[in-house]
Amino acid sequence: MRYLALLGSHERHGITAGYLDAVTAALPDSANVETVFLRDYDIYPDTKEQSCPALDEIEAKMAASDFWIICAPTYWGGMSGVMKQFFDCMRFRLVRMNSVADTLPGKYKDKHYLSMTSCFISSTENLATGITDQTFVTIDRVLTGAGLIKVGEFVGTGTWGTKKPRPEKLAECTRWGKKIANRPRKDDNTLKRYILLFIMIAVMALITMGLQAWWFGVFAAGKFWLTYATFVVIFYVLLASILHFFTFVRHRRR
Ligand SMILES: Cc1cc2nc3c(=O)[nH]c(=O)nc-3n(C[C@H](O)[C@H](O)[C@H](O)COP(=O)(O)O)c2cc1C
Repeated sequence: MRYLALLGSHERHGITAGYLDAVTAALPDSANVETVFLRDYDIYPDTKEQSCPALDEIEAKMAASDFWIICAPTYWGGMSGVMKQFFDCMRFRLVRMNSVADTLPGKYKDKHYLSMTSCFISSTENLATGITDQTFVTIDRVLTGAGLIKVGEFVGTGTWGTKKPRPEKLAECTRWGKKIANRPRKDDNTLKRYILLFIMIAVMALITMGLQAWWFGVFAAGKFWLTYATFVVIFYVLLASILHFFTFVRHRRR
């Protein structure tokens, strides 16, 4: 398989780059791996008269790869400007637009990607503040808009006051490298998400209805499990239909 890593950091050999190296180092010898340090390129928007040579060069590498690793540190609570500038300039190469300005997947549809970022703050602080959320949201907006399939995400937290990647995070990168090695995935986890949704509804309904039965005795005697099972199934079908409508059908229409 061919892997292309895009590094959008200020630092060629910084901590974020260290995590990216750990992922690519864990790929098998047979893998064809290339890393593009975006700052090496003079990236600017294409015009009608002339396309940007740097974008041509990077896009050729993207087209030739099966798997993209998007690695951008979080700056000021969002994606680094280097990566943002690249994505902005790539917009019309990544997606198609129709007459009413719908954004449709382009020629990279069904390739796969892994998102990576880093931040100064600790994992606990990041859990509470979600400082890296916006970086991932932007990556996903661009790449899922282009029709790519997400495989996972990695955050290298706690970069403040150190010059080196953390060993436990490096181990996590190694696991990612192994996970993405030679495993082209055919689906986009939709089935897994719907199964998870069913389990969540079943557990929450059991807790809610169990408390209702215990505290208020609201269910007919001997009918608790039938009431519970029918509630879970009906609620799941309705909720899944609404979600399906808003996530797939509605998007396609507008
Ligand atoms: C300009 C700039 C802005 C940053 N903004 C944030 C931030 O808002 N929150 C945060 O937790 N880390 C922030 N960081 C830390 C980076 O996300 C990154 O973890 C750190 O620079 C180490 O990665 P590097 O060695 O690749 O530069 C910032 C770093 C830079 C250089």
